[in-house]
Amino acid sequence: TQIFINRQNSEGVNLHIESMLQPFMNAVTGFVGKQWQGGPVVNGKTLNQGELVKVLCPQDHTQQVGSIYFADGKATELAITTAHQAFPEWNRTPVETRAEALEKFADLMEEHKHELIALCTLEAGKLLQDGIDEVREAVDFCRYYAIEARKLHAYHGPLAGPTGELNELFVQGRGVFACISPWNFPLAIFTGQVVAALVTGNTVIAKPAEQTSLVAFRAVQLMLQAGIPAGAIQLLPGRGAEVGSKLSSDERVTGVCFTGSTDTAKAINRALAGRDGAIATLIAETGGQNAMIVDSTALPEQVVKDAVQSAFMSAGQRCSALRVMYVQEDVAERILELLKGAMNELSVGNPIHYKTDVGPVIDSRAQSGLNDHIATISQSGKVLATANMPADTGKGSFVCPTAIEIGSINELHKEHFGPILHVVRYKADDLDKVISDINGTGFGLTLGVHTRNESKAAYIADRVNVGNVYINRNQIGAVVGVQPFGGQGLSGTGPKAGGPHYLTRFVTEKTRTNNI
Ligand code: NAD
Ligand code: ALA
Repeated sequence: TQIFINRQNSEGVNLHIESMLQPFMNAVTGFVGKQWQGGPVVNGKTLNQGELVKVLCPQDHTQQVGSIYFADGKATELAITTAHQAFPEWNRTPVETRAEALEKFADLMEEHKHELIALCTLEAGKLLQDGIDEVREAVDFCRYYAIEARKLHAYHGPLAGPTGELNELFVQGRGVFACISPWNFPLAIFTGQVVAALVTGNTVIAKPAEQTSLVAFRAVQLMLQAGIPAGAIQLLPGRGAEVGSKLSSDERVTGVCFTGSTDTAKAINRALAGRDGAIATLIAETGGQNAMIVDSTALPEQVVKDAVQSAFMSAGQRCSALRVMYVQEDVAERILELLKGAMNELSVGNPIHYKTDVGPVIDSRAQSGLNDHIATISQSGKVLATANMPADTGKGSFVCPTAIEIGSINELHKEHFGPILHVVRYKADDLDKVISDINGTGFGLTLGVHTRNESKAAYIADRVNVGNVYINRNQIGAVVGVQPFGGQGLSGTGPKAGGPHYLTRFVTEKTRTNNI
């Protein structure tokens, strides 16, 4: 308990203060134009082999950020062999040494934060504020899991038992973990998965999303600098269907820690189930169809502020983002009028500019999928509001933030991962139907509730099957150790990232009974 109380999350930067903003901006923009290079990292060596892929900037496709070698079959095989051979020694390394390496890695990320933030902005199109939060979350994961691992691996014994018998419980790593991550938190989720697996004694093969391999490459360089042994961490940039599926079908990979879409999680689950050998572990954090329920007692200004943040921050590219806002019809007109005004104020554009609210989506493929959805759903629904799109957004993959009124969440057949807010009006008497429709999607990630009636908030929170409920606030930005994050059903297996039970899935337990 003592350890937990002393824990502190990393410090933020207040960009509203000019004296903090300016030096920070200068440091980050100093990296613009740098051409980053990277490739697979196997046994501590960067392999300049395989397909060389150009990395382009989401806000300006004419701007190249650098290039990355995607792993070929030889690199993948070598990475699996290396991680497999390195496991016994890393697993026997004291937890204290492993935890200290995580803490050193966290310090190094803070030291190199400007470069990491610049990479998040240029490679992933993240706003400066989002880049800062990304580094902070990655740092927090390291420090939090270092503490949790010390507790988990602490000596558990002697346990109760008959006289003359010594009973003890130990935990150890499971083996080789493939950590497969998405592009939308290219440093934070990448780091969270990898360090959780490492600190519990597993060796890791990390497979970052194809769109954001450079920031992952820089993170792995810093991990090695922090003292994580070359055998313990391998990096395989590459396409999911090639590298990712090779990892999940190889028997030497004991477990997969995955964050991404529900469809990919199911494909991995099938691959793991279909292979010979031991039963593999799967931790999957996946998509959502997140709703907010607003009743007639809610504060309209608060509702609109929280809905706009939840739906449009990070260009709606958060698994936690609000997709469907249910508004009680008695207050709908007032709230929708305020929503229109707020969306009119949104500044869409280059994420490196401090005043930008909404940056690009990750690539042209995502852009056209989202635009197609807006075109289709507007035929049956009604566009309520859009943001203004400046002319210079034509160079990148921007999607106009849009609010559309529809009849029910059932009209959405999948997650639309971008700045689109669907609005549904409901009658007070239909609250139970609203709850059952939300549960009927099968997703269960986040839920927002806006009401000043506490018993109603409790009623709703109790009945909607989600992992994270937020009452009278926005529903994004879970903080490590404060809001353990993760869903249920189609949204994931749990346990929650940044929570006290997360590391338990990465270990196997051994009870030792000794008749002394
Ligand atoms: P994605 O599923 O397309 O890709 C995720 C990762 O899986 C990438 O590294 C990709 O290369 C890899 N991959 C693809 N096919 C594979 C296969 N057959 N075998 C193994 N690996 C494969 O997801 P994305 O587009 O990168 O990320 C967006 C999705 O992630 C959204 O659905 C979002 O909701 C979800 N997400 C969930 C959480 C959460 O904590 N629940 C957090 C962030 C993102
Ligand atoms: N943990 C991220 C959030 O809460 C996905 O927004």
